[in-house]
Amino acid sequence: MSPAAHASTIRIDDDQDHLTALDYKRIATLIGDEVGIKLPPAKRLMVEGRLRKHIRALGLASFDAYCTYLFKQDGLVAERSFLIDAVTTNKTDFFREPEHFQCLEQRMVPALLEQRRGERQPVLKIWSAASSTGAEAFTLAMVLADLAAQRGDFRYAILGTDISTAVLAQGQRAVYPAEMITPVPPAKQARYLMFARKAGTRSEVRIVPELRRLVRFARLNLMDKSYPFDTDVDVIFLRNVLIYFDKSDQEAVIARLIKHLRPGGYLVLGHSESMIGTAITMRQVAPAVFQKP
Ligand SMILES: C[S@@+](CC[C@H](N)C(=O)[O-])C[C@H]1O[C@@H](n2cnc3c(N)ncnc32)[C@H](O)[C@@H]1O
Repeated sequence: MSPAAHASTIRIDDDQDHLTALDYKRIATLIGDEVGIKLPPAKRLMVEGRLRKHIRALGLASFDAYCTYLFKQDGLVAERSFLIDAVTTNKTDFFREPEHFQCLEQRMVPALLEQRRGERQPVLKIWSAASSTGAEAFTLAMVLADLAAQRGDFRYAILGTDISTAVLAQGQRAVYPAEMITPVPPAKQARYLMFARKAGTRSEVRIVPELRRLVRFARLNLMDKSYPFDTDVDVIFLRNVLIYFDKSDQEAVIARLIKHLRPGGYLVLGHSESMIGTAITMRQVAPAVFQKP
């Protein structure tokens, strides 16, 4: 049944219409169980804000009508993916927490290649495990492209995964608002970005095809019990996502990801998540950077 069939002509009044405590709890439990993201009561206004426009677009009159559609009719099937997109925080940047990319260049790649001395042109596998729109994956690609050109002794492949289909679609297009590229060093901008300026439209940039070819995106829920990916990955970036999870989910995700690293491989957390890593049996080699024995 279409949601509009349940609509009345009353429009949502932003000030008056709210999720009931019970409906909010049902949404929070659903998201917590499926995605791992904690939604404490203090986040109710944020969730309402993110849902309002969508509920209007569905032709529904209130949060109450939306929750009836979700939980008492068949709405959840159609809405699941929207709800996940709505509650995930996708903030990302190129060269976010830049020390990690320096560490990759100066420490991780040289050590990984040293271990594989004797192999001709080894392929380093890098995984951005909560990639959002791909800024992290393409930052990795730019850094590795320069390093590979300089050293000439390795190749690389990058995987970006995320639970949100909306951000993955942007990563696949590899098109970004021009204002996002400020942190990209000018020489890399010149080499790896294409500028589109059409009169009257917002300026955008696109990543060059040579890098797009080396970055693949796929949907993955980190809460899944296993991940259908390679188990000889060299470096996993898992930054700024565990902060949304509770402690036991954080530890479970890290334990599952470590299984995908080759011995000597690295796990990189966000700087604010560094403490989470202290619970794991890996050697810390730099702030928020851990190496598998
Ligand atoms: C704040 S962004 C971080 C992006 C990037 N790693 C960075 O540091 O700039 C967090 C990302 O984690 C994703 N995410 C949240 N829960 C997830 C889950 N259970 N599985 C996979 N990705 C998830 C969100 O969709 C969002 O794109």
